[in-house]
Amino acid sequence: MGEGHETEETAVDAPASERMRNADHKAPIGPLVAMGVIASVLGIALGLLIDWFPVAASTQEAQVDTLYDVLIIASVPFFVLVTAIVLYSVYRFRMLPGEEDMDGPPIHGNTRLEIIWTAIPAVLMLGMCVYAAILLDNAEDAPAASAGPELNVRVVGEQFTWTFYYPPGEDGGEEVASSQLYLPIDRSVNFDVQTKDVLHDFWVPAFRWKIDAVPGITTNYRVTPNRIGRYPVVCAELCGLGHAVMRQTAVVMTEDDFAAQLEEVANPQPVEGEDGAGGGESAFASNGCGGCHTLEAAGTSATIGPNLDEVLAGQDDAMISESITDPAKELTEGFGANIMPATYADTIPEEDLKALVTYLVESTKG
Ligand code: CUA
Repeated sequence: MGEGHETEETAVDAPASERMRNADHKAPIGPLVAMGVIASVLGIALGLLIDWFPVAASTQEAQVDTLYDVLIIASVPFFVLVTAIVLYSVYRFRMLPGEEDMDGPPIHGNTRLEIIWTAIPAVLMLGMCVYAAILLDNAEDAPAASAGPELNVRVVGEQFTWTFYYPPGEDGGEEVASSQLYLPIDRSVNFDVQTKDVLHDFWVPAFRWKIDAVPGITTNYRVTPNRIGRYPVVCAELCGLGHAVMRQTAVVMTEDDFAAQLEEVANPQPVEGEDGAGGGESAFASNGCGGCHTLEAAGTSATIGPNLDEVLAGQDDAMISESITDPAKELTEGFGANIMPATYADTIPEEDLKALVTYLVESTKG
């Protein structure tokens, strides 16, 4: 197609407008279409072959992953089409030497083309929206298959942790607070999602579903976990300095294990340790303290919260204990009131707290 530029009437030194008008306007449609089809097929094949998602652990997974595949199949050909036209145009209508100061010929748009390229994407987008809306609606309905009554879990986000509240047992009492998410397999779960401060987003990628935690309202979604295992719980809304460490674990377990686990959460037993110090070290690790704090003894170097080697040196048990259970009471300069969650009074068992305090006193003595 390069030779087409220099026919007799349209030599390179002819005015650009004339050259463009006279040049052979026929694009090589045949080869372009063939290349487009091949590129689309390859693109779609690649898009479907790539393993985009982490392991799936809920019955809602199939329809979400199918939606994603449909989006790939629908969008790759358009990507190829648009890219091909752009690349072809860049080459075909490029500026030649001597044309630097010239304007192109004045043209009027093509109404028919404009209608076509507006209407086709509009219909496609509408189709995808309807499909996605139906899928969303299906997923929000209580699933037909649940191996027992639906479990209701209240999920509360705050800077920078999640707390999971289970309904009180049959004998009444209070909700049970847990810092990890425990779920029985094959039972439908409804999450009521709330936040104490700013926007967060409750996301378990393995369940394929996520929803914003919005101040002042309760949002919800339901899934049915169907695979035993441990999966990350992620905050998916930028919520401040500690956003990246706002990660916990969803543990899907058998109904029996779940009942036992919930029992333990309600009546916490201390972490196993050789002595007080060992237990404290485990408590430091299992409560994620190192995600925010630097503590040389534990080998952690995070800077979201105060450096414990500095601020706790020479402090007594009472002060350290209070800093854990009521972190807003006395603040270290340069650290705001809401950086450390106020939930540890509820979620760290008494014995563990003692061991943790002892461990911190010992390891910061210097
Ligand atoms: Cu909470 Cu990001």
